[in-house]
Amino acid sequence: PTVFLNDYRPYPFALDRVRLSFTLAPRGTVVRSDLSFTPREQGADLALDGGEGLRLKRLAIDGREIATGDYTREGEALVIAGAALPDGAFTLSAEVEIDPADNTAFEGLYLSGGIFCTQCEAQGFRHITFYPDRPDVMSVFEVEILSDKPVLLSNGNPAETVAGRAVWSDPWPKPAYLFALVAGDLRAVSGTFTTMSGRAVDLNVWVRPGDEDRAGFALTSLVKSMEWDERVYGREYDLDVFNIVAVDDFNMGAMENKGLNIFNSKLVLASPETATDADYERIEGVIAHEYFHNWTGNRITCRDWFQLCLKEGLTVFRDQQFTSDLRSAPVKRIEDVQALRTRQFREDAGPLAHPPRPDRYQEINNFYTATVYEKGAEVIGMLKRLVGDDGYRDALDLYFDRHDGDAATIEDWLKVFEDATGRDLSQFSRWYTDAGTPQVTMTETWTDGALTLSFTQKTDPTPGQLVKPPRVIPIAVGLIGPNGDEVRPTEVLEMTEAEQSFTFDGLGARPVVSALRGFSAPIILERDLDTETRAFLLAHDTDPFARWEAGRGLALRALSAAAMGEEDENADAFIDAIGRLIAEDDTDAAFRALCLRLPGEEEIATRLAAAGQIPDPDAIHAARERLSLRLAVTHEALLAGIFDAMETPGDYSPDADGAGRRSLRLAALGLLTRVDGGLRAQALEREAGNMTERMGALAVLVSLGQADEALARLRADFGDNRLVMDKWFTVQPMAAPPADAVRIARTLSEDAAFDWTNPNRFRALIGGLSANHAGFHAADGSGYDFVADWLIRMDGKNPQIAARMSTAFETWNRYDADRQQKARAALEQIAAVTGLSRNMAEMVGRMLSVA
Ligand code: ARG
Ligand code: ZN
Repeated sequence: PTVFLNDYRPYPFALDRVRLSFTLAPRGTVVRSDLSFTPREQGADLALDGGEGLRLKRLAIDGREIATGDYTREGEALVIAGAALPDGAFTLSAEVEIDPADNTAFEGLYLSGGIFCTQCEAQGFRHITFYPDRPDVMSVFEVEILSDKPVLLSNGNPAETVAGRAVWSDPWPKPAYLFALVAGDLRAVSGTFTTMSGRAVDLNVWVRPGDEDRAGFALTSLVKSMEWDERVYGREYDLDVFNIVAVDDFNMGAMENKGLNIFNSKLVLASPETATDADYERIEGVIAHEYFHNWTGNRITCRDWFQLCLKEGLTVFRDQQFTSDLRSAPVKRIEDVQALRTRQFREDAGPLAHPPRPDRYQEINNFYTATVYEKGAEVIGMLKRLVGDDGYRDALDLYFDRHDGDAATIEDWLKVFEDATGRDLSQFSRWYTDAGTPQVTMTETWTDGALTLSFTQKTDPTPGQLVKPPRVIPIAVGLIGPNGDEVRPTEVLEMTEAEQSFTFDGLGARPVVSALRGFSAPIILERDLDTETRAFLLAHDTDPFARWEAGRGLALRALSAAAMGEEDENADAFIDAIGRLIAEDDTDAAFRALCLRLPGEEEIATRLAAAGQIPDPDAIHAARERLSLRLAVTHEALLAGIFDAMETPGDYSPDADGAGRRSLRLAALGLLTRVDGGLRAQALEREAGNMTERMGALAVLVSLGQADEALARLRADFGDNRLVMDKWFTVQPMAAPPADAVRIARTLSEDAAFDWTNPNRFRALIGGLSANHAGFHAADGSGYDFVADWLIRMDGKNPQIAARMSTAFETWNRYDADRQQKARAALEQIAAVTGLSRNMAEMVGRMLSVA
């Protein structure tokens, strides 16, 4: 059953208030609900969501039991006939029984290591009780929890708490997807925050006993997030308490339930010995993300799930701004672009392509994608660039003012920008409704002191969208003189036509064009530049993103050519220019590390496919290996000097500076390994005083096939630490030589510690293999078969996780005929499973629907 955006109808009842009472038990939790409705339309049936897992014990209106003939239960719905309802307001009371211990899908109320917890977004609440489970039905909640667990939490403010009973009251109307409940033996790491209007808020990060010493960083990050949202967006927190709970079984990263965020423990717990720099940065960013949702998501929510990017794109954009402010803005921008190209561009170019605001879905959980989140954030970045910082600020103020308390739409969002800035955004809105990544070409002509830049744009067809009209594309451009000085600072060209030219005149000498500065639009920009000009930009561009991009262009061209069996001069230019760049001692180490690291195999494959070629995973891998070796041989002494100089002695700190030094050190190590036989990596793995270097060295050893002892050591040290063991499971299939990857993954899948029903553990192994490009795409199809078998198994337990991991196959139709035939067979094997989940059926169906 497909759901369509155009079928939206308002709910015919207002839900004035909700009272819930939970009597918790692993099997047979009793949920009592009183829902107070006021009809908005006369005679409408009352339709509630709620599936077969709900054992209905009692159903009454204003205290009187409803006759069985007055309602029907079909599939996921319970419908009470309009004729059986009173004319005015009424209260519907229900009692249902559910089994949290049986809930292996981790949707609704479930148990994770003895802790009762919930996940209700998108449609989990219907597994808890009968309810109008849609985001535009908002209500105030009062929740009673009866349980012998020591800590009992829900949304809002605590009302009464005695042993065995807690009552929580949430004064802010919210949709059911923001409901949360937690009950368990938990310890808090606590603090307080005083808001800008002077209200004190109690902050708690709840973890399992024994984990308290790894929760401090999360708490600090929360305080920074609260300060930042006040300072930058003028947003103040609105309850007396803010609780965060870490659980080990969680389908996603984290969830912004009102006043009670629930997190995957890997995004809370960190210590220098167990977490890497990347983990710390991610924890800080996700704590901020969930906190920022309090305004962008909770106070202003979504009318329906098609509008998901209204809250997710904006909240990602906000968390990116936060990280840029706290750390290095250029480094963050480059990292985000890299992630976008690796994950979103590939999604946008394949059978799963969809716009940031889709207009249909079968299973909404399949749309928590890189397109909705990351491209959704890019679209906001473009808006901000087009209207300027002040225009953006005015528009956001108006948004919070006008829509506080609303369930809003993308149209509402764009209207706010139009009203605040006077700009017509009708063409711009295509970014929300049209899928696919525009391909833009740029050519230059130079005559008599005038430089003309000519652009063309085109977007290939995507599923269901064959014709793509031109979009508004902000292209930030600067001009650099022959001596390396900037002769024109950044200017944003607004492309609106399929073909368009812009002229700069009054120029003395022909400048070099620095284009798409800051990655001003999520497009593929093709320009015909010679290698010297790229090398010039890598040396002189004043825009850090464009500077990095110049090196990237050289490396990608060199690698693409080599992977297609051609040689070209970009490799020499790249090796030469990169040597000069990494020797710049006063350039940020993290930036140098980003320039030194070669594009990943996945990114090379996506680029080749976009250029109409058939990527050969083995040839791509070999090309990347050869270029790495040449870099190492050419710059051995320089890299060795960097490796020594970038040591970070003293106490570990996860700040940007230390992390940048370690990143450059490990980038150097990855290359040096090719000439030192692994000696440095072996030493570092043993001596490292932090997990970043220990894992970095271990990955190198795995790629060399020299990791047996190091892996045994990590397991001996941390066998009882789930998060470290997840790393142990990931690094082996991911960093292994491609020819060994599937065999290694298979062996690991038989390990006693492979608790595959835990989402993190499953993702570690299956995701680790999928991330090994040439390993997963092994020519014999063994990677496809292995992953497909596990997806089928997981689908029976946890459809969300299985469906999400199935995106390993989303590029299947870009490879050679032989691989395609094997991947198709694997997908068809999944499709043929009886009782396949709706999640998986949709994913496989969409992937197989391409020619
Ligand atoms: N809203 C959460 C976040 O982005 C993600 C929850 C996704 N849940 C899901 N079942 N798909 O912060
Ligand atoms: Zn979010």
